[in-house]
Amino acid sequence: IAPLRLLGEQRELVIGAAVNANTLRSDPEYAIVLGREFNGITPENAMKWTALEPVPGEFDRSGADALIEFARQHDQQVYGHTLVWHRQVPRWAHDAVTAHQTGAMLREHIHAQVSYFRGDVWAWDVANEVFDDDGSLRDSFWLRRMGPEYIEDSFRWAREADPEAALFINDFGIEGINAKSDALYAWVTDALERGVPIDGIGFQVHWTLAPLPGSFADNMTRFADLGLDVAITEMDVRIPTPATEQSLAEQAEIFDQALTACRTVAACRSFTVWGVSDAHSWVPHAYPEQGSATLFDGGYRPKPAYQSLVEAL
Ligand code: XIL
Repeated sequence: IAPLRLLGEQRELVIGAAVNANTLRSDPEYAIVLGREFNGITPENAMKWTALEPVPGEFDRSGADALIEFARQHDQQVYGHTLVWHRQVPRWAHDAVTAHQTGAMLREHIHAQVSYFRGDVWAWDVANEVFDDDGSLRDSFWLRRMGPEYIEDSFRWAREADPEAALFINDFGIEGINAKSDALYAWVTDALERGVPIDGIGFQVHWTLAPLPGSFADNMTRFADLGLDVAITEMDVRIPTPATEQSLAEQAEIFDQALTACRTVAACRSFTVWGVSDAHSWVPHAYPEQGSATLFDGGYRPKPAYQSLVEAL
């Protein structure tokens, strides 16, 4: 069968994978599968603040640079992840006390990183996971220090540093039409009216064998109707381990539903799986007794989910 990326390219769709810079360096087979099957990559951790600036003012972009170089050699698009988030922020950053200090620090971070990677990333997750399930803004360090404006400020700072990159707001639990996606929709509608430079909505889709919401395509469409791009940014489908023939078939069905939803929405630009293979996925670390969440098994053999994506394309 043809590699997945060929079909993606024919459909003008980025078919991406979250990539771990250390694994890419150490595992030749990982690199082969990544280069052959995907036309997009998202740094799994290498563009998070902790990775980029472990000590204030001392930048370490070695992982991100290596991923960008790999992407250049393999004609892949890089999706930047992520500028403002409540996790993986260095400890030292929490020393900022006043709203003014915190805002200056966040502006500096966004300006420095976005201008450094300018031209190498087609899109950024500017704001990641800023809503709670009930639709309120997440009670984060940023919200407490800066108030709700930190989100729109982050978009403006990102635009200043790279006028070309598409600027996304990314979250989980917004796949269906629900309290959280309604709140995001209201927030984005208002922000766009006020000229905040938002270009797209990222749907993470970290999922289980439970069915996807039937409203997923309609939900993406309502955001697209605001003039926005949409993207599936972090999909995986975790399975109780060990996986069985039955659970792998159900998993394939869920991947198919998500890609089919994306394919029905013209504004859906990319479909990214959170991990290249089951051997390196974050799932077994984050969810005990679950795993097998990606398209390739631990031996890099394509799973039924891989075949279902080929068919959905
Ligand atoms: C995860 C990575 O996969 C792990 O390696 C890391 O330890 C924690 O973060 N939502 C996100 C991603 O936006 O950044 C997270 O990635 C998974 C959940």
